[in-house]
Amino acid sequence: MSGEDFNITVSFQHRVRFTRGAFAPGNRLMADLLETRGRSKVLVFVENGLRNFFPLLEGEIQDHFSEIAGLRLTGVEWLAGGEEAKRDDQVYQDAMVAIERHHIDRHSYVVVIGGGAFLDVIGFAASTAHRGVRLVRFPTTTLSQDDSGVGVKNGINAFGKKNFIGTFAVPYAVVNDFQFLHTQPELTRRAGLIEAVKVALVRDGEFFDWLEENVKGLLSLNEEILEEAVQRSAIHHARHISQGGDPFELGSSRPLDYGHWAAHKLEQLTDFELSHGEAVSVGVALDTLYAAKIGLLKTLDAERVLKLIEGLELPIWHEALELRDSKRRRRVFNGLEEFREHLGGELTVLLLEKTGVGVDVHEIDEAIWESCAEELKIRAHSMV
Ligand SMILES: NC(=O)c1ccc[n+]([C@@H]2O[C@H](COP(=O)([O-])OP(=O)(O)OC[C@H]3O[C@@H](n4cnc5c(N)ncnc54)[C@H](O)[C@@H]3O)[C@@H](O)[C@H]2O)c1
Ligand SMILES: [Zn+2]
Repeated sequence: MSGEDFNITVSFQHRVRFTRGAFAPGNRLMADLLETRGRSKVLVFVENGLRNFFPLLEGEIQDHFSEIAGLRLTGVEWLAGGEEAKRDDQVYQDAMVAIERHHIDRHSYVVVIGGGAFLDVIGFAASTAHRGVRLVRFPTTTLSQDDSGVGVKNGINAFGKKNFIGTFAVPYAVVNDFQFLHTQPELTRRAGLIEAVKVALVRDGEFFDWLEENVKGLLSLNEEILEEAVQRSAIHHARHISQGGDPFELGSSRPLDYGHWAAHKLEQLTDFELSHGEAVSVGVALDTLYAAKIGLLKTLDAERVLKLIEGLELPIWHEALELRDSKRRRRVFNGLEEFREHLGGELTVLLLEKTGVGVDVHEIDEAIWESCAEELKIRAHSMV
């Protein structure tokens, strides 16, 4: 027997930018961000849902790129977005056809403008066409700006499972353009804040305090406060991905997935009627109360978390938690097994020790967790 181990190290630059009106005349961001040697091609995908809110966007994009020497806009393609776009591979195929038709190569850019679901699909197409072309993401929802858009994952759903088909690929750049932040449906705008709460809980107690202090401004979607929350959360996510030591999730520890095992299952059990943000909100409430119940987290801290979620008028409970299988086991618990399967390896769930600090555990006591679900059910009903 013979053989040798070779070490392959590849370094990526993760460019995350914040701006307002990236395509407005005089905004230099795109010209400075993209390489303009050799007239690189640019193909822009925009999600259909934005058309009514930004009727002039296509013209602005055309004018903007016509002013940048060294870049050539080959087209603006409008495709369907939202969770529907991830249900099957239709939008993915449409994007592939466009990428091929516009002769996008590995020195060209795909720019994608839309919510988290649209970014996941188009990102998947960009990362598989020619084994990966350069992708510039423009997230347009709170959730995609403060979390998923600055991440490195793409994918579509299959076999009834979230993100079953997908890739890890570092985008060329992420541009959080605040012009898009304030036209989302109100609930979408608010629900995405749960990822800021989540990242504060697992990484930064002071950020959690700040969110608590600003809960009224966040609830009323005060533009300045919303933008600050989004920016701080996005930077935390990008920092964790770049410095956390496991950008492609090879290990089992997933702090950014705090509260997500139940969330992913709830999305599926409700056939995605419950949005990702709302589902995470329920998941965070449950895992936080659980940590208090097993004596890991102070009851007072758990109460602060629940109060913040309630202060943002996000859910702490959902009726899908009541669904049971033929053995009377809550179906949400299958989420634990699926969570482990998705990551591989040992079951690893993060629980809170205090706000800003988490610890990995490897089992969940279903009976205790059940009691948390019951308690939150009563609390949720007493609120209305
Ligand atoms: N890749 C990852 O790491 C990752 C992480 C977390 C979540 N996600 C995925 O992200 C998706 C959820 O993303 P989301 O919360 O952004 O929702 P979404 O993409 O489903 O968008 C929600 C709705 O808002 C509309 N919309 C988007 N931007 C708008 C704007 N600026 N103005 C008006 N309407 C707008 C969309 O058309 C859609 O109807 C889920 O599929 C989730 O699984 C991915
Ligand atoms: Zn999430």
